[in-house]
Amino acid sequence: MPAQRRILITSALPYANGPLHLGHMIEQIQTDIWVRFQRLRGHACTYVCASDAHGTPVMLRAEREGLTPEQLIERIQASHRADSAGFLVSCDNFYTTHSPENRHFAELIYTRLAARGHIARRSIEQAFDPEKGLFLPDRYIKGGCPRCGAAEQYGDSCESCGATYTPLDLKNPVSVLSGATPVRRESEHFFFRLGDFEAMLREWTAGEGVQPEVANKLQEWFSQGLNDWDISRDAPYFGFQIPGEPGKYFYVWVDAPIGYMASFRDLCNRTGEDFDSYWAEGSSTELYHFIGKDIAYFHTLFWPAMLSGAGFRRPDAVFCHGFLTVNGQKMSKSRGTFIMARTYLEHLDAEYFRYYIAAKLGAGLEDIDLNLEDFVLRVNSDLVGKVVNIASRCAGFITKRFEGRLAAGDEAAALLADFLAERDTVAAYYEGREYGKAIRLIMALADRANQYIDHEKPWALAKDPAQAARVQAVCSAGIELFRVLMIYLAPVLPAMAAKAAGFLRSELDWAALARPLGAHTIDTFSPLMNRVDPERVAAMVEASREDVAQGSAPATAAAPVAAQHPPIAGTIGIEDFAKIDLRVARILAAEPVEGADKLLALTLDLGDDARRNVFAGIKSAYAPAELIGRLTVVVANLAPRKMRFGTSEGMVLAAGPGGKDIFLLAPDSGAVPGMQVK
Ligand code: 2FM
Ligand code: ZN
Repeated sequence: MPAQRRILITSALPYANGPLHLGHMIEQIQTDIWVRFQRLRGHACTYVCASDAHGTPVMLRAEREGLTPEQLIERIQASHRADSAGFLVSCDNFYTTHSPENRHFAELIYTRLAARGHIARRSIEQAFDPEKGLFLPDRYIKGGCPRCGAAEQYGDSCESCGATYTPLDLKNPVSVLSGATPVRRESEHFFFRLGDFEAMLREWTAGEGVQPEVANKLQEWFSQGLNDWDISRDAPYFGFQIPGEPGKYFYVWVDAPIGYMASFRDLCNRTGEDFDSYWAEGSSTELYHFIGKDIAYFHTLFWPAMLSGAGFRRPDAVFCHGFLTVNGQKMSKSRGTFIMARTYLEHLDAEYFRYYIAAKLGAGLEDIDLNLEDFVLRVNSDLVGKVVNIASRCAGFITKRFEGRLAAGDEAAALLADFLAERDTVAAYYEGREYGKAIRLIMALADRANQYIDHEKPWALAKDPAQAARVQAVCSAGIELFRVLMIYLAPVLPAMAAKAAGFLRSELDWAALARPLGAHTIDTFSPLMNRVDPERVAAMVEASREDVAQGSAPATAAAPVAAQHPPIAGTIGIEDFAKIDLRVARILAAEPVEGADKLLALTLDLGDDARRNVFAGIKSAYAPAELIGRLTVVVANLAPRKMRFGTSEGMVLAAGPGGKDIFLLAPDSGAVPGMQVK
């Protein structure tokens, strides 16, 4: 065994303005597999994460929901934690960047950088919303593209021609928050002089710390010149105030990566672990960050420069991954492929996704596609059809005929030796984040184990009492092969490995590879994993459409793995509003919808004798019987929409955050069906 390594791992901190989706989960799973692999090998590996709590989108969302930012981030942090745990991500501390530890380190790093002359100040002109009274981030301004003229483009780039520009270049710009025309306003900003660190960064990025694709990108960035980075934002802003500078706040991206340190500090406070030995310059512990490729600039330039300028160690490496696509395309709300982590967990086992993603992950930056048909086939054929099958074909005989006792001996010794001979290759694949290669190798071994059992046919031998010893030997060998496979798969399938460890009555860590079970008594076998039911996948897709209808999916059109700040839905003019026909309706009938967890099928009376069938996501708040006779408001002129269960001929409006709290009109409101709502 090599000497024990001390490793600190992070995955990117998800924004606290929305729940996690499957894009976030591939990153956390990629990280978790690596962490679990290191622990399995006996290394001390700590994994920290947090919610990225600051910034304008969090502030505005809290305002829209009538909450303080603190209340909002607490709620979202709880959801991040729960979803992450639901996917069996073994993070040691899931903290928040809005913490005293993070304030401490943000201030410390800033003051050291300032004292060493790495902070500049100057006035800049920016777009200001005179109605909301705040400076507008680029994504909060829309207007005509200055290059091609396309309307309704965001303030940073044009989706039509790809031009990039500043919001002040847009034609007829409007604030998406208020609809007001932004004005130019000057204010003093603070800048981090990234260029001071060019030599250090060139040296750091030339080493092992970045993937080849990222190194190429860095060459491009170096040749374009390293610009000063604007690290301040003016009030009102949800974040930490810059020390001694009232009204000026650290930009969220300053204290986000510092949140890695703060989360670890908080953990050390509880465990007594030595913080400095992980962060001091020259430390011999290892530090790695797993991130999406869209945030490489922050992690390979700003972050090492900030650390080094403030006298801390730099990361050993930053590992970037690609984006998640579903069925070959960006996640899409209308196709039901913008899948929230929670929605997945409500329908399917986390380990199906962990396995599927692992089988597709490599060390590069390529996007990872979740093809839903292939997902069902692959999980069923590999995990249930190959791996579990080995154990289930052998365990019954051992339990029923030999009271759970395995035979020691050298049955299938050559095959077992081949399995064990792959251990260094499997380990090297995990270490190098080539999980797909590890899985292919492990599945090839599983095929060989099944071929061995097919060849020996214990079920046929079992018919002949004279062959009892052979049955025991073959089934024992099968179980030993299964044990090796489960050790290899344990980083990917921790719950299944834990069940297998219970059934085998044996620890499944890497060192156990060297300790065959021999004449050992195992427990009764119970199924380790069920087949993926394609109906559940379809129900998840449908529920994802419902999430969108209910507004629980973020309002982004597309979802890179690390979500961008979700843009706020644009305002509509009075002409658009006038097109919406809102009417009071009486609920005549309400029924559950088979295969949909959140929907009820409502029959509505809009006072015009025409009955309307509408699907509404209000099942969590009302039993169907409670609804009969109640009044609600509907969008009466919504074009009929085909859903999996039938056509929905309108949209029911209700108020409330969701769950049990969804409110329709009060029954005694005095409204009558057909009445227009103004
Ligand atoms: O892109 C994002 O989702 C950011 N919230 C990631 C921050 S990672 C780290 F720097 F905190
Ligand atoms: Zn354009």
